Amino acid sequence: MHHFAMKNGSLFAEGLSVKELAREYGTPLYIYSAATLKRHFQAFDSAFDSMEHLTCYSVKANSNLAVLKLLASLGAGMDIVSGGELYRALLAGVPAERIVYSGVGKKAPEIAQALSAGILMFNVESVQELERINDVAKSMGKIARVSFRINPDVDPKTHPYISTGMKKNKFGLTIESALDAYALARDLPAIKPVGMDCHIGSQLTTIEPFLEALDKLLAFYEKLKAMNLDIRYLDLGGGLGIPYNEEEPPHPSAFGAALTKALSGVPLKVVLEPGRVIVGNAGILVTEVQYTKQTPTKSFVIVDAAMNDLLRPSLYGSFHRIEEVAPKGRAPQDVDVVGPICESGDFLAKDRQLPEMLQGELLAVYSAGAYGFTMSSNYNTRAKAAEILVDGDTAIVARRRETYESMVAHEI
Ligand code: LLP
Repeated sequence: MHHFAMKNGSLFAEGLSVKELAREYGTPLYIYSAATLKRHFQAFDSAFDSMEHLTCYSVKANSNLAVLKLLASLGAGMDIVSGGELYRALLAGVPAERIVYSGVGKKAPEIAQALSAGILMFNVESVQELERINDVAKSMGKIARVSFRINPDVDPKTHPYISTGMKKNKFGLTIESALDAYALARDLPAIKPVGMDCHIGSQLTTIEPFLEALDKLLAFYEKLKAMNLDIRYLDLGGGLGIPYNEEEPPHPSAFGAALTKALSGVPLKVVLEPGRVIVGNAGILVTEVQYTKQTPTKSFVIVDAAMNDLLRPSLYGSFHRIEEVAPKGRAPQDVDVVGPICESGDFLAKDRQLPEMLQGELLAVYSAGAYGFTMSSNYNTRAKAAEILVDGDTAIVARRRETYESMVAHEI
């Protein structure tokens, strides 16, 4: 459930007219709904209420400071994958002891930054990384808390680019090699192994792969217990999908109930790293029609948002619902919705039924809150869009639109 709805024939974000917001702030424009963010976070977090748990929102999905601040105020921890994300999380007021650090390529300065902050744990993805963390921690006189990311070789049945827990993926350690890694970790002077971790992929629409991975981790936990390690955390990553079109992913409450059942009697604090399910449907991208054009084989609606603003359709062939901000009731036709970028791969939708559109009219691209702005770029020297956070009847500019000057500011 989200708070973007039609009122008197025009789209509203909570109490504010999207048309007015576009008029005031220009397009392309990302609009996020605070009520939706709150609702999604609380629905997810409360699904695990009967277990000791920590919900670490995955910053990469939407790292705007206003979004992070809002989630931090609700008690969210954060899952980060870079020094930059750590900087943002701390700036947003997230306590370091609620931050977990994932990713296959952590650099020494980033590790030092996380150790200085005092994060909860590193999710370690290789033996070389473990050794580097040990070296950095030792040189700082610190002990690093770590868990290993286990690659359970489970098929999450999602897009290949966002499936991460299969043997062929670059992530984590195989179960077979993880035991030796824990033995090494136990013996390294500046390392304290405290947890187990996995993240098998993103946009999962069934619970089974999560349960399959969990089964493998719990079997592995039995082996760890025999090693007398003080394991306290089980991080199950993120990955719960959302409806973009006709998908019917499990509701967070069903997801939470299934995991709670599978974990009954397991004396570990569960860490969760949801991203998309919190922010995906809490954001839309609003774009203005520039031109329409017919070729002998196709009809195009050319809008002012492009692959640099929302890469998902071009990169993964993802479906995003696109609708008129103020429906006029014209007859639908088959169109491609495309941006101004000089690539044929620059599209927001292909072969979509959309009512005839006129120049200057607005379209809303739904489910754009996750991996939308965060994956945007300046390709074709296009300024990144503004981001607006609506809360009831008020809107704040969560990020100003970039300018020509800001785009060249780092160049000589
Ligand atoms: N934890 C780890 C270690 C991750 O790598 C990810 C996402 C998450 C948590 C959050 O997953 P979520 O709950 O959002 O599914 N750009 C792609 C998605 C990439 C996901 C990368 N990792 C997309 O637009 O679909």
